[in-house]
Amino acid sequence: MADLNAKLQNFRAPTFPGSYFFVLEGIEGSGKTTQINFLKSSFEKLDYRVLIVREPGGTIFGEKLRQAILQSNTDIHPLSEAFLFASSRAQLLHEVVLPELEKPRTIVLMDRYLFSTIAYQGVARGLGPELVISLHQYFPLNIIPHLTFYLKISVETSFLRQKHRNLPKDYFESRGKDFYLKLSSGYDACLNMFSSFIYINAEMDNLGVSTQMLGAIHKRFPDLSSLQVTQV
Ligand code: TYD
Repeated sequence: MADLNAKLQNFRAPTFPGSYFFVLEGIEGSGKTTQINFLKSSFEKLDYRVLIVREPGGTIFGEKLRQAILQSNTDIHPLSEAFLFASSRAQLLHEVVLPELEKPRTIVLMDRYLFSTIAYQGVARGLGPELVISLHQYFPLNIIPHLTFYLKISVETSFLRQKHRNLPKDYFESRGKDFYLKLSSGYDACLNMFSSFIYINAEMDNLGVSTQMLGAIHKRFPDLSSLQVTQV
């Protein structure tokens, strides 16, 4: 435990004045895409440059890795998965996220990040959260967002929303209830590890969820107090 705490101390949020990095996390059906679009238009109203990126992917190299994993017909070893996601992430940070944040008044909004690797590979696929944290000890992988919004829904809600969407399922989406329960417990574990990882009740309607996210932003960042929910 002391070792894990020491490793957690090595994570840092970027320090480019006036620019912010926010991440949305959650299991399938948690509403990340809708909420990322809400945040984008809210920040644009305040004249921020806003960039949305998704993981895995976001670079040419990352998109290849995305395909390699999500369209795989064979089972990939969880350690291979963890390295692939971390590779895609390192490239995205180096090529896109950090250079963009360096520009004035920029908001980077990211769909999934390190916390997905903790939940999916660390807990659901059984590597253990500590191993995933160990993989992320070096720059640029030790960069964490200013805030991460954990859009929490129950496994039942996730399955119900997936059923309504009726989309083809990828490598992870086709797994059963036990897998999803483990994912949830992996995300819950992040609440105890990272003070910038914020619980959001995503069972509420869209406006209710956005309002909670804005409340968390206002509380932590007084210079963003004029940010208001904008419907898209
Ligand atoms: P995606 O289609 O982007 O799913 P979603 O719309 O739910 O975000 O596919 C990403 C999948 O990859 C998703 O099932 C979660 C998984 N994943 C991991 O297993 N580990 C990771 O580190 C990341 C970033 C994603």
